[in-house]
Amino acid sequence: MKRRTLLALPLFAAACSSAPPRAAPTRLHIPPVLPPAIDADGAKRFTLTMRAGSKTWGINGDFLGPTVRAARGDTVRMAVTNRLPETSTLHWHGMRLPARMDGGPHQMIEPGATWTPEWTIDQPSMTSWFHPHLHEKTAMHVYRGVAGLFLVNDSDDPALPDTYGVDDIPLIIQDRNSSGSVGGVDSGTFGLLGDVVLINGTRGAVFTATTSLVRFRLLNASNARVYRAGFADGRTFAVIAGDAGFLERPATVDRVKISPGERVEIVVRFAPGETVVMNSVGESERSANDIEEDDFDLLTVVAAGSLTSSPALPSALGGTPPESPPAGATVRRFALSGSEINDRDMDMTRIDEVVPAGAHEIWEIDNRTYAHNFHIHEVAFRILEIDGQPPPAYQAGPKDTVFLPKHAKARLSVRFGRHVDPTAPYMYHCHILRHEDKGMMGQFVVVEPGTEALVARTITGHHD
Ligand code: C2O
Ligand code: CU
Ligand code: CU
Repeated sequence: MKRRTLLALPLFAAACSSAPPRAAPTRLHIPPVLPPAIDADGAKRFTLTMRAGSKTWGINGDFLGPTVRAARGDTVRMAVTNRLPETSTLHWHGMRLPARMDGGPHQMIEPGATWTPEWTIDQPSMTSWFHPHLHEKTAMHVYRGVAGLFLVNDSDDPALPDTYGVDDIPLIIQDRNSSGSVGGVDSGTFGLLGDVVLINGTRGAVFTATTSLVRFRLLNASNARVYRAGFADGRTFAVIAGDAGFLERPATVDRVKISPGERVEIVVRFAPGETVVMNSVGESERSANDIEEDDFDLLTVVAAGSLTSSPALPSALGGTPPESPPAGATVRRFALSGSEINDRDMDMTRIDEVVPAGAHEIWEIDNRTYAHNFHIHEVAFRILEIDGQPPPAYQAGPKDTVFLPKHAKARLSVRFGRHVDPTAPYMYHCHILRHEDKGMMGQFVVVEPGTEALVARTITGHHD
């Protein structure tokens, strides 16, 4: 572990001879909530335009996107227009929806075109997000800034801080090259590992707390970095949700690990007038072969001199305990090595796995090399074991992405949905975007039970 400072960077030093070691404090940007239009049938219509700014790309703006919010039961209609100079896609990471609406590599949007997926939200409250997923080009599109949050709420949510921008604060964490170069995005073992961290696009971000409890929704939208987030003073805080929904009860921790694609929601208590830094501190035990875990300051929180006192955190959050997979559940095994899964690169025309709708399976992920993670589209899974041990309490809730340190093994309980389509696949892949782009991805279809043997394993054309 080493603390990176800008002084060590020749490129930055050349551009600015009196470079300070830290970015000047800047008020944390909060992505605006995108108001939907309401169609005659009550559906919520959201208009998202991917576009290029002068140096960065964004959605409805020059960098990152607005926050989309919808409730369980809502029908959402998206109009996604591509005003980028390249073909792209927009994937709803964490959404349970038909494969043709998923925005994966088959749902390409040509420059100038508009893609109009729609679906009904039928899943618990969660923090999800959207980002491009173009085959072999995801790393650069996400790095340039095309990403945003999609928050789902439910009518029976527990009483939690939920005033967006006041006590319910999104934190989109991304590392960058301070030089402004895109060097590294498409090269090296892990791709880009930047020397500075932006939160919601803000460098040196400062947030002013006005309530005694603040809920932060952390999203690791970095290309490759893994963070161990906590506070410089070592204070504990409560984890209330993982990727795909609430835990059963708050889990008290002093650090949370979050790899690319993962989300974690935490609630932190502040005292009037204090200042505390949220930071990332790498594991003390780590080998040279694993992904770098440099230390970074993420966010400075300044608590106002008097704070509105927040209601106590509920002891039950509504998350359900994991159901054990049935006896005789199908076990699928995925070996990760280099940037291959089961010794194969992604092939857009090959269906790797055929899953019967509603199946409850065990997926075993065996990482044979350096750090990876594993994300499955459309599902929420539970981690049964990591290296033979149950996961820490804060990772025991519903998830869609799991981190696998070097040589780790994970055993997942995966519950599949009922959106069947034998010719439109969903993806599973490493969310280290350099690995994904190199082909560390496979495709599965969900089909009517009993029809598995009839499914063509080769697909032609693209599905939109
Ligand atoms: Cu966030 Cu398949 O991706
Ligand atoms: Cu996804
Ligand atoms: Cu990987």
